[in-house]
Amino acid sequence: MPRHTRARVDLSALRHNYRIARQLVGKGEAMAVVKADGYGHGIAAVARALADEAPCYAVACLEEALSIRQAGLRHPVIMLEGVHAGEDLAVCQAQGFEPVLHDQVQIDWLTKDGSRPVIWLKLNTGMNRLGFPPARLPALMAELKKAGVIVRGLMTHFACADDREDGFTEVQTRAIQAAGAEFPHLLLSVGNSAAHFRSGQPLFDWSRPGIMLYGGTPMLHATGPELGLKPVMSLESELITVRVLEAGMTVGYGATWVADKATPMGIVAVGYGDGYPRHAGTGTPVAVNGRRVRLLGRVSMDMLAVDLSAVPHARPGDPVELWGQTVGIDEVAGAAGSIAYELLTGVTARVPRVYTG
Ligand SMILES: Cc1ncc(COP(=O)(O)O)c(C=O)c1O
Repeated sequence: MPRHTRARVDLSALRHNYRIARQLVGKGEAMAVVKADGYGHGIAAVARALADEAPCYAVACLEEALSIRQAGLRHPVIMLEGVHAGEDLAVCQAQGFEPVLHDQVQIDWLTKDGSRPVIWLKLNTGMNRLGFPPARLPALMAELKKAGVIVRGLMTHFACADDREDGFTEVQTRAIQAAGAEFPHLLLSVGNSAAHFRSGQPLFDWSRPGIMLYGGTPMLHATGPELGLKPVMSLESELITVRVLEAGMTVGYGATWVADKATPMGIVAVGYGDGYPRHAGTGTPVAVNGRRVRLLGRVSMDMLAVDLSAVPHARPGDPVELWGQTVGIDEVAGAAGSIAYELLTGVTARVPRVYTG
């Protein structure tokens, strides 16, 4: 009998969240960002669940694009990091993958190679991670035209869109708009999830929602549910033992939590070996039998301890939710000094994904 620890993935919630992105993008379209194994939910299942609604997917790299084809889907796939070797361009052309080229080395591979996938160009408008300076665009477009390359559009990525008070997103938006004005046939794509929730933010032709599809917040001061998003993953486990700790007793490595009175305590079969964050400390919310309780002491590799004072009749085998419906993933992430992105993509391979909806 396997452990009861699992990640339950609600695909109807995923579709609900995608529809919110579609509504917010207005006249444009939303490419579903399914990189990093569909943000930990399973790329094949996530891509299939969105197949009737999302006109295309976005991934980081070729391996992820190929896994969409292996899932039997023929949609266009945008490769956000472009290609990592010249020979990948032929695969892109054959498979209908559209790499986003961001560096001259990739342009050189393309212009010297016989393959001609449709491409996007990444412009660096201030993130300073990837992309060409906007001023290089006219020369680049001339070089690509000469080589017979079709450029679908221009892309940039926001550095601070999660902070509604920050003005830098407007600066970046103006920079790509100005660069694109000279090439009106090119599509524009700027918006990560956060950009969907900024009032007045143009999303142009294609937005690129990621974390919002999975119900995590992209914003600094609001949770996913506060933005109308539904949690997609519930990380579930069970109590495997319960005991009463007398005043003065401790639990777990480092003996960091000390009972100040007799405290009923339960051990849950989940730990950092499953992707539960080790830095979630005492007080982090956990749900036992649907009631919120608190984590006690340090998280171990395969176990963690919870305070059962609010559910004194809890027994081994009773259900535990680490995040999901009763405990928001954004709350757990906040308690661990992390973000929902990291928690979701960090759920390890030993946790079975169980799909509903
Ligand atoms: C280029 C690009 N676009 C879109 C996204 C999606 O971002 P988010 O998950 O914040 O919506 C990412 C994610 O890192 C990205 O790198």
